[in-house]
Amino acid sequence: MKKLDVSYMYLELTRRCTLQCAHCLRGDRQNIDMSEEILDNALKDVVHIHELDLGGGEPLLVPEKIESLINKIKRYGIRVDKISFTTNGTVLTPRVVELIKELQQIASLNVRLSHDKFHLLEIYIKKLVERVDQNTELLTEMLGYNPKDKDFAMDDGTISRIGRAKLLTQEDIDAINKWLTPTQYHISYYGGPNTLDVVRMYDWDKDIVQVCGSVVISATGFLTQLDREYELEDKGPIFRINIKDKSLLSALVQYEEKYRESLGDEEYKEYREEIDSKYNK
Ligand SMILES: C[S@@+](CC[C@H](N)C(=O)[O-])C[C@H]1O[C@@H](n2cnc3c(N)ncnc32)[C@H](O)[C@@H]1O
Ligand code: SF4
Repeated sequence: MKKLDVSYMYLELTRRCTLQCAHCLRGDRQNIDMSEEILDNALKDVVHIHELDLGGGEPLLVPEKIESLINKIKRYGIRVDKISFTTNGTVLTPRVVELIKELQQIASLNVRLSHDKFHLLEIYIKKLVERVDQNTELLTEMLGYNPKDKDFAMDDGTISRIGRAKLLTQEDIDAINKWLTPTQYHISYYGGPNTLDVVRMYDWDKDIVQVCGSVVISATGFLTQLDREYELEDKGPIFRINIKDKSLLSALVQYEEKYRESLGDEEYKEYREEIDSKYNK
């Protein structure tokens, strides 16, 4: 039975969220969590993940999914080098704190706190300022770093014009800029992984297949790409492949077949040679 060594995996654990930021590329939040079957299918053939990104929605809203993920990593004996997630900082319950500690036992943990002007506005409107300030303090203490050291100002240039951000006008952005005083800090515009946005496989003939690029799984099970609207994800942007009823390994075999069909035999052969010589040193 073949196994997978995955360079980057993004699991959209939930589409629920505590906020409705004006710039949100996902679109409106949805009451959907990743099912146990999808989570299991994503992980059961995997032996190694270099970076595992927990996405959403707000990933800390679903501690039961994080717990289940930790259990599956242990049960399947998966080696994980790095776990990361981006959070809006509104949900740091004692249970979540415990799970963050557990994640730190499994892998090196990288947390991105979204504390930019769009989040701050929503946090202010929803009267969550005090809670987020406390959570930020606790989180930075636990992780041993100070997000105030970073200053990633989010400007119009970094906003993907999808989801709710399609509706943002320059006037809205100017108004938000005006509202935010210069002493407030902005962190994390999402610093995504430095990997290819599509899946690439090699070593098909070996017991462990190497998977480069980004394996991105939506909460509804679709193989998708990073930073998509929910609506687009559910159209199945990668050959409509879904892992609801199949393992990631079968899904990737299906992907490779579809990709071969889309290129034609000649071009596919060239592609294979290129990928094999690039990665298989
Ligand atoms: C989709 S959110 C999910 C995680 C969590 N809910 C949060 O906001 O931190 C991940 C990151 O994407 C960023 N983001 C959302 N909409 C964006 C857009 N239109 N352009 C660029 N980044 C965006 C957010 O600011 C956040 O840092
Ligand atoms: S950016 Fe994050 S916190 Fe804001 S609405 Fe989107 S998913 Fe929720």
